[in-house]
Amino acid sequence: MPDNRLIVALDVPNAIAGLDLAKQIGPAVDFYKIGLGMLTGGGLALANELKQEHGKRIFLDMKLFDIGATVEAAVRGLAQFDLDFLTVHGDPHVVRAAKEGAAGSNLKILAVTILTSMDRSDLDACLIQEGEVPELVVTRALRAFEAGADGVIASPQEARLIRNQPEAEGRLIVTPGVRPTGTASGDQKRTATPAQAIKNGANYIVVGRPIHKATDPAAAAAAVLAEIDQSTTST
Ligand code: C5P
Repeated sequence: MPDNRLIVALDVPNAIAGLDLAKQIGPAVDFYKIGLGMLTGGGLALANELKQEHGKRIFLDMKLFDIGATVEAAVRGLAQFDLDFLTVHGDPHVVRAAKEGAAGSNLKILAVTILTSMDRSDLDACLIQEGEVPELVVTRALRAFEAGADGVIASPQEARLIRNQPEAEGRLIVTPGVRPTGTASGDQKRTATPAQAIKNGANYIVVGRPIHKATDPAAAAAAVLAEIDQSTTST
């Protein structure tokens, strides 16, 4: 039985390359993330194929944001595809609408608090209220939980702060910005190893480039899974 705490980001140009990568990785990984970049390259069809024909779990990373009625309609449409996770921005009206749209399906709604690529000067440019980023992330997570989010996306450091909140009990924390020991961080600013992320309270980690850019993606995925395993055995 694969350890499904690892979600591999299929950040490749199109569905054909995505399917090829999933086949190369093989049975060790059973959870894949499909993002906006692949949407116009057959991303939804790939999601469907991986789910229906290969039995994989699917995380659709769309980071939806719009008026409530539009978000609800979009999520209702997506919920028909029998997917597992969907991201929306963590604004309460968006989360509430997404939960309405997902009603009756197994689709879990994950809220994005503050994009991990943004720092305080970016927030100033967006007229976001004063306060340090980690503090605002926790407040946004609490509001998203209150609005019904099944979980949040959080960097490894934020994961610990959110997991410490009583309101996070029973909610999912999904963590990108994870770098296996000895690999390049790329543009991710606040990284942690797979074991650290899990110890910080993440239920799932998302790993992209260290796997899809590796010469042997299956071996790279196996290395991440081994590091996740250490987090459980070496406490
Ligand atoms: O290649 P890498 O491991 O950095 O990929 C991480 C994945 O997680 C990418 O698909 C990226 O878009 C996504 N992501 C992120 N930070 C967020 C939300 C999603 O890195 N806050």
